[in-house]
Amino acid sequence: MAPTTSLRLISDRDELSRELRAARAAERAVGLVPTLGYLHAGHAALIRQARAENDVVVASIFVNPTQFGPTEDFERYPRDLVRDRALAGAEGAAILFVPSVETMYPEGPENQRVWVDPGELARHLCGASRPTHFRGVATVVAKLFNMVSPDRAYFGAKDAQQAIIIRRMAGDLAFPVEVQVVPTVREPDGLALSSRNVYLSPAERAQATSLKQALDLARDRILAGERGALDIEARMRREIERLAPLGRIDYVTIADPDTLQPIAGLIEGDALIALAVYFGSTRLIDNMRVVLEHGRPRFL
Ligand code: PAJ
Repeated sequence: MAPTTSLRLISDRDELSRELRAARAAERAVGLVPTLGYLHAGHAALIRQARAENDVVVASIFVNPTQFGPTEDFERYPRDLVRDRALAGAEGAAILFVPSVETMYPEGPENQRVWVDPGELARHLCGASRPTHFRGVATVVAKLFNMVSPDRAYFGAKDAQQAIIIRRMAGDLAFPVEVQVVPTVREPDGLALSSRNVYLSPAERAQATSLKQALDLARDRILAGERGALDIEARMRREIERLAPLGRIDYVTIADPDTLQPIAGLIEGDALIALAVYFGSTRLIDNMRVVLEHGRPRFL
């Protein structure tokens, strides 16, 4: 990773505006990559795609308090700004925006009164166990969209529900931004990269591959012609229980990717196969998209 000197670290909102005004005056396209920091190869893929499609890339690092539940890991969320800065610079970001809590919530997070409410989309899948999470995500991303005014913004397919909600928010609320979704980056054994993987013990880490293995099983069953969503879900649950005795399943759901409503009957058209498994207090998620064209499945 070659460190770059051209990356500007900015924490002030006005300085960010000034910097971006110059870019916009020169008609340079701006790409935004919002993150919580502790960057890894998944974030790097987002920055790289943003760099390929825009002239100026802004990566943001903000551990957003309003998307963490009261018993979640806000206080202990991993942080390493020195490493993050080197990685963002090496991938070609021009600006690393690292606002303070006061910048994002001038009156404090507890005094935020107007929220972006993703409605029904926030109630399924991860929303069932994290009831206020997506409201916090949508609200902070709306603030970032307003502060950066990007032409394009980049989100990972790993957080499928988040990407679906943000894309919907941009459309429904007329944010002039194109939302791009980047494929999930995985470890060689299939585990999706996540900043939270550092919380896993060696035994938990070994069993964490069960999420991807359950998705592979679903893919095999669909390729073999099975279409019953509940049967496939049940098989996936059994596979996780078999492979990961240290895990505790939060959900395994096959859902409509437009409404996120669980599919109770047959998979037809487009489906999101998503799951979340706890290892201790660490919650891991993964997913796969299946698109049926003339009955033939394609997996994304
Ligand atoms: P964070 O978890 O840091 O993730 C930032 C972005 O990186 C998200 O769009 C996420 O989907 C993507 N990402 C994470 N792991 C990935 C992987 N293995 N492959 C591809 N992309 C991956 O998601 C958030 O932060 C926050 O909710 C945020 C959007 C910044 C709002 O606070």
